Amino acid sequence: MNEILEAIKKSAVAIKALIETGDTGKSDNENSTGDTQLKLDIQSDIIIEDLFAQVASVKAIVSEEQDEIKNVNADGEYLIAYDPLDGSSLVDVNLSVGSIFGIYKNDFTGDNLVAAVYVVFGPRVELVIATDEVKMYRLLNGDFHFMQKIVLNPKGNLKAPGSTQSCWPDHHKKMVDDIFNDGYRLRYSGGMVPDLHQILLKGGGLFSYPGTSDRPKGKLRQLFEVFPFAYVYEQAGGAAIDGHQRVLDIKTEHIHDTSPCFFGSNVEINRVLEVYKEHAK
Ligand code: AHG
Repeated sequence: MNEILEAIKKSAVAIKALIETGDTGKSDNENSTGDTQLKLDIQSDIIIEDLFAQVASVKAIVSEEQDEIKNVNADGEYLIAYDPLDGSSLVDVNLSVGSIFGIYKNDFTGDNLVAAVYVVFGPRVELVIATDEVKMYRLLNGDFHFMQKIVLNPKGNLKAPGSTQSCWPDHHKKMVDDIFNDGYRLRYSGGMVPDLHQILLKGGGLFSYPGTSDRPKGKLRQLFEVFPFAYVYEQAGGAAIDGHQRVLDIKTEHIHDTSPCFFGSNVEINRVLEVYKEHAK
């Protein structure tokens, strides 16, 4: 596992340089779900794939930017699903973006996740590693230094609501309105890595990306975005659900499957469960 974490740290240093100096324009390619790939997406993907290819314990990798699982070392122990540069369109306007990694044994299912890691590229570069606890490191003079453990409070005061109100189901809109009426603060940049990082570091709250009229199964991908952050939130003492069940209990049928998702502290997640249970009646 250490070799994998070292490879992720090296990728973060290289991707930081790429973000600072690279071309933020579009490429001529589309990924498997039809999104036009930015040159930064493709280059970040190559950086990570090349680093994992040198790690003996990596058996296979799958990237959000690719269509298939790639075998790396037949004798390797770990499988890694990653999103090389989530929110890459935000680089152009100089907002924060991130890389996300889910590290599995045996199979890409929630119960086989053994660690999740994300990197936030903001004014600072921060790396969060979730195993049995969640620890944050910061890039200082070329090395990552331990800064703090991350533990969510039972209740927070931030709300990050994804998608657009015109596509939300009525019960979801009412729930979000009620949450704001209770005094929660809006914090939504459009990049899930910084948005979820902020909720984790500021004690708690709720990030939601529901099933919507234009995307009934949500936007965020299970393997590359939802499962790794679900693991981080659970290990930090919070929870992650699809409205009805733990997202880590969902069985993925295709590597690019998406899911509605809610990440938060326990009070907020219980509130979502109550609203969605009531709606299902
Ligand atoms: P992309 O990588 O295509 O820019 O998508 C970013 C993701 C995620 O990071 C963010 O939370 C979400 O899409 C934002 O989507 P909405 O604009 O629909 O809220």
